[in-house]
Amino acid sequence: MIKAIKGTKDILPENIGKWNFLESVVKKISLEFHYGEIRTPIFEETGLFSRGIGESSDIVSKEMYTFVDRSGTSITLKPEMTASVVRAYIEHSFDKQQSFKKYFYISPMFRQERPQAGRLRQFHQFGVEALGSNNFTLDAEVILMAYLILKEMGLNNLSVKINSLGVPESRENYKKILRSFLSDKFDGLSDDSKRRYDTNILRIFDSKDERDIQIMENAPHLIEYLDDDSLEHFENVKQILLKAGVPIEVDPILVRGLDYYTNTTFEITSGSVGTQTALCGGGRYNLLVKQLGGKDIPGVGFAAGMERILLACENENVLNLPGSTIDLYVVSINKNFGKEIFEIVCLLRGKGLSVEMDYQNRSVKAQMREANRLKASKVLMIGGDEYERGTAILKSMEDGEQKEISLSKLDKIIREG
Ligand code: HAM
Repeated sequence: MIKAIKGTKDILPENIGKWNFLESVVKKISLEFHYGEIRTPIFEETGLFSRGIGESSDIVSKEMYTFVDRSGTSITLKPEMTASVVRAYIEHSFDKQQSFKKYFYISPMFRQERPQAGRLRQFHQFGVEALGSNNFTLDAEVILMAYLILKEMGLNNLSVKINSLGVPESRENYKKILRSFLSDKFDGLSDDSKRRYDTNILRIFDSKDERDIQIMENAPHLIEYLDDDSLEHFENVKQILLKAGVPIEVDPILVRGLDYYTNTTFEITSGSVGTQTALCGGGRYNLLVKQLGGKDIPGVGFAAGMERILLACENENVLNLPGSTIDLYVVSINKNFGKEIFEIVCLLRGKGLSVEMDYQNRSVKAQMREANRLKASKVLMIGGDEYERGTAILKSMEDGEQKEISLSKLDKIIREG
């Protein structure tokens, strides 16, 4: 038997309600903040991600689904959306017009990570990207949006961590300081961190290895070496968020796994989801548009993992969605009435009612059981003696009351109860 690929999941109709609810919250808040929906292709040229996210990042170095297509082009299933959105922004010449654009998206993403609860190989993100302004209000806006969406989902156990990575010059200067701090401790680092010492030294802060954690406890922090403009920008972002009631905590070791960040970075974690605690992450990327071949245009955004958010909602028991119901179930009393019933059912569906019928030649009793299971508000029984009179029996499932009604006035009667 062929099974779904490891790390992928079917979303069945039984579970779609919570997905639709989350998507409706994302769309509602994005609309309120005036972000327009963008949809980009599921795959891109591999170079977009290796240049955008960075060769030394975990995503590019070990997690991408990359293949060569029949024309010899290296293709990658998108592991994240920021690079794709920036590609689209440049491709449609918005960078040349210095256009200010605010986008939101909901899309599947692909990363070949080790699957576990809250970590999949095909997962879903929603997110936003705002391009064309370096204004600190925009950093605060995207963080506020992420927070409001999670709150609207009913989540409580949240931490909003925020940091600033400054500009490349101060970061390069800081890396030298960090390198010299670590030089006499190098032998005590884990193998991964020894490698990162040369390739991506900031990421040593992300290590879960006890040896690294102990060494990094006394390491100097980038935030102490920020240039004045970055510091002022960061202070302004923090002030706005605190005023808006977002419970931010400065986390000086929040470095994030993608290389494109400058200045503000943030993550929102949940205490309700086991080990994969990051529900969303993002920040500013003022150099990415240029790095991908466009003009010098700043950007800021975030992306959130939808599986993790829904897991947190389940664990906090905060999603009490109404189950699905139908307006009417049509019971066939006489098995020879299939065509007539189908015609009536289609007519009522055409009037906007949600209607179901039996397709399996089941007994009247089994059809009534099905109507109950589907939580039908009403049942219409067709095919008894009364059919000769052009009528059928309508039963209210709420109070059990039955009445004989004319088939020609069906939709009006059903609507009016
Ligand atoms: P990211 O931190 O790589 O950032 O991913 C954002 C969120 O996607 C994570 O916080 C997590 O909830 C979810 N996620 C990531 N990998 C997986 C996985 N394997 N399974 C389930 N969920 C996952 C980005 O993707 C950046 N593009 C965010 C951004 C947008 N920065 C600026 N703009």
